[in-house]
Amino acid sequence: MQVTDAGFVKGFIRMASDGYSMGWHERNGGNLSYRIRSEEVDEVRECLKPGDWQEIGTSVPELSGEYFLVTGSGKYFRNVELDPEANICILELDDKGERFRICWGLRDGGRPTSELPSHLMNLEVKKKLNPDYRVVYHAHPANIIALTFVLPLEDAVFSRELWENMTECPIIFPAGVGVVPWMVPGGREIAVATAQKMEKYDIAVWAHHGMFAAGFDFDLTFGLFHTAEKSAEILVKILSMTGGAGKKQTIDADGLRAATKAFDVQIEEEFLK
Ligand code: 13P
Ligand code: ZN
Repeated sequence: MQVTDAGFVKGFIRMASDGYSMGWHERNGGNLSYRIRSEEVDEVRECLKPGDWQEIGTSVPELSGEYFLVTGSGKYFRNVELDPEANICILELDDKGERFRICWGLRDGGRPTSELPSHLMNLEVKKKLNPDYRVVYHAHPANIIALTFVLPLEDAVFSRELWENMTECPIIFPAGVGVVPWMVPGGREIAVATAQKMEKYDIAVWAHHGMFAAGFDFDLTFGLFHTAEKSAEILVKILSMTGGAGKKQTIDADGLRAATKAFDVQIEEEFLK
């Protein structure tokens, strides 16, 4: 089978196009990774041509020997669908989880995303919590970013604020969201800080930069990201309409508790105090 005919590759490409159409991927902004199932690797194995081993820049021993589909560094999401083989790649990790090699894609040269350490460390943390986690998504959604200039950069504040703007929010991300203070992107340090948040949450906000989301599949991960950004958009409108004064009424702690209880999910009680 051609790599681009595989279902997981089609799902990846669709998510890249959807993210671009949402306006979350100016220029080369954002990146996407998928931890490929072994049976999916088998579907495309005849097309894999391993290159040279290269350092990841961090170590992810729990992911050793696994294969990943990731976007290329400096590549534009709007071009992924037009020419997948030039803009995305399949990577294999070595038996220590310290090096990768490109096995398909990036046809005209290049490297996997500069946020590869964050993607892999997040995927590792999530795999340890539940092996069904396979997708990590990073983008630059304007409303979440805007809020990082006006709200305190605290998990409790962002979680509570984002839950309140739309009834379904606490049901969709009952654990809340983590907030990583501004840091230099693209290295191990921000990857470690983000992975710490991913121990607890499926969403990590990067102050003045963007957001990460993790999930079991493309639909769930995109849907989670979309929900958080839409909630942020509502809050931006509220703050704009009221000259920063904010909400006149909202869903109170008991309401948030009741909504999550009705849908059989456990809201983070700490953030309701
Ligand atoms: P890459 O082009 O290297 O994926 O970087 C984009 C980005 O959003 C960095 O945070
Ligand atoms: Zn970014």
